[in-house]
Amino acid sequence: MRLSAGAAVAGAAVKATLLEPASVAAQMTPGGRKIRFAIVGTGIRGCDLLRAARLVPTGVCVGAADLYSTRLQAGKEAYGADFATTGDYRTLLDRKDVDAIFIATSDHHHRRVTLDAVAAGKDVYCEKPMSHSVTDGQAMVEAVEANKRIFQAGSQRVSSILYAKAREIYQSGRLGEVYEIDAKWNRNSPGGAWVYPIPPDASPETVDWKAFLVDAPDRPFEAKRFFRWRCFEDYGSGLGGDLFVHLLSGIQVITGINAPAQRAMSSGGLYFYKDGREFPDVLHTLYEYPNLQLHVHCNQNNNDGGEGIVFLGRKGTMVMTGTSVTFTPQDVTPVFESYGWGGMTAAQRQKGQEEWRAAHPVAAPALSEVESYTLPAGYNDTADHIANFFRAVVTREHVVEDEVFGHNAAIGCHLANQSYFHHSIATWDAAAKTVKIS
Ligand SMILES: NC(=O)c1ccc[n+]([C@@H]2O[C@H](COP(=O)([O-])OP(=O)(O)OC[C@H]3O[C@@H](n4cnc5c(N)ncnc54)[C@H](O)[C@@H]3O)[C@@H](O)[C@H]2O)c1
Repeated sequence: MRLSAGAAVAGAAVKATLLEPASVAAQMTPGGRKIRFAIVGTGIRGCDLLRAARLVPTGVCVGAADLYSTRLQAGKEAYGADFATTGDYRTLLDRKDVDAIFIATSDHHHRRVTLDAVAAGKDVYCEKPMSHSVTDGQAMVEAVEANKRIFQAGSQRVSSILYAKAREIYQSGRLGEVYEIDAKWNRNSPGGAWVYPIPPDASPETVDWKAFLVDAPDRPFEAKRFFRWRCFEDYGSGLGGDLFVHLLSGIQVITGINAPAQRAMSSGGLYFYKDGREFPDVLHTLYEYPNLQLHVHCNQNNNDGGEGIVFLGRKGTMVMTGTSVTFTPQDVTPVFESYGWGGMTAAQRQKGQEEWRAAHPVAAPALSEVESYTLPAGYNDTADHIANFFRAVVTREHVVEDEVFGHNAAIGCHLANQSYFHHSIATWDAAAKTVKIS
């Protein structure tokens, strides 16, 4: 993938800008109201959410649920304060003093917890991928809408000041028509491939294994399945759910495309991590949208380039990394292209050149400069995403990543996985709201 912005106009000046986060005042809720929230799932992401929530003055955590008792202590440590804990999230839903529920469980619990939470009158912040299947996502959209709840899906880049800048550049038209986007995320480490540590006290005594399985096929306790659930189809969604959804959510917010691709074609394989997992460690998917080809690919065996999205426009290229966005104008200055005249006579060539000069009497405007924007050190997009959610809980206005947005991004994951597992093209049937395999 091209990540070397500037190649098109070598030597051109680069205008570099450090982005500024919104002030805390801009995030305040009307009347200064503080949202009381409880969290379901205090594992890796749940603890991250709690650390980010500490930075957001408009909410306070008042409870947590987890199926592995030790994690409830981890959640309190992450938040740096005490709150009521339980193994059964439904007791949180019974509490009248809880406004909102954060869901940071494995993907296969997102639907059940969301449906229960909205039925209990709670607003919901649910981690990405919003759904474990298209039918789960559809049920979640319908339940949120029927209960008139605020729902924020948790792909936090959607609230990032970096993505806001990229969106501004894209929407300004300076890229010209964009017919191709290339997005990737490469990681080369055990953690990047979900080989997470298994705590020494993990056992059927500390983990509510039956509750974890919920609707998944019954089987004896297996710590690997509980702590590395991303590797297994019954609980997780592989690279599609873990990384594609972040890239797709970012592309949705930048381009304004809030719809699934029409078709997806995946190719990939499980080459290195042959540890019993069910998902590939290299996955490429080509998505077709109207007037747009999107190539998303992730590799768990190489770090090159890390995370990045490239927008290839007719007038410019925009390159995003995890911390920067760079706009580089394409050099499309009109020139007499002698190559095409090479098979003509000298007289024909001269006449062609004269006609071309007559048609281009005015010098082309100078190229605009390369622009580069960088995130300030320590910027936390999750805190901004949470602040956006808390505001909407008070105002009842739209969140940046609502249930339809989150569902559409997750459908991209399901299209990719279905195409991969069926070795076939996956088509989104918008009328039937299903994925069809050809
Ligand atoms: N937005 C991001 O950048 C980001 C990053 C990492 C993970 N995630 C998402 O966050 C979610 C959690 O991932 P993780 O890495 O924290 O997983 P994890 O396994 O570390 O933690 C999940 C926790 O949820 C608990 N849990 C599951 N079902 C539950 C239930 N019904 N009631 C109470 N507790 C329950 C488990 O006991 C576990 O402790 C996933 O959907 C993942 O895709 C998002």
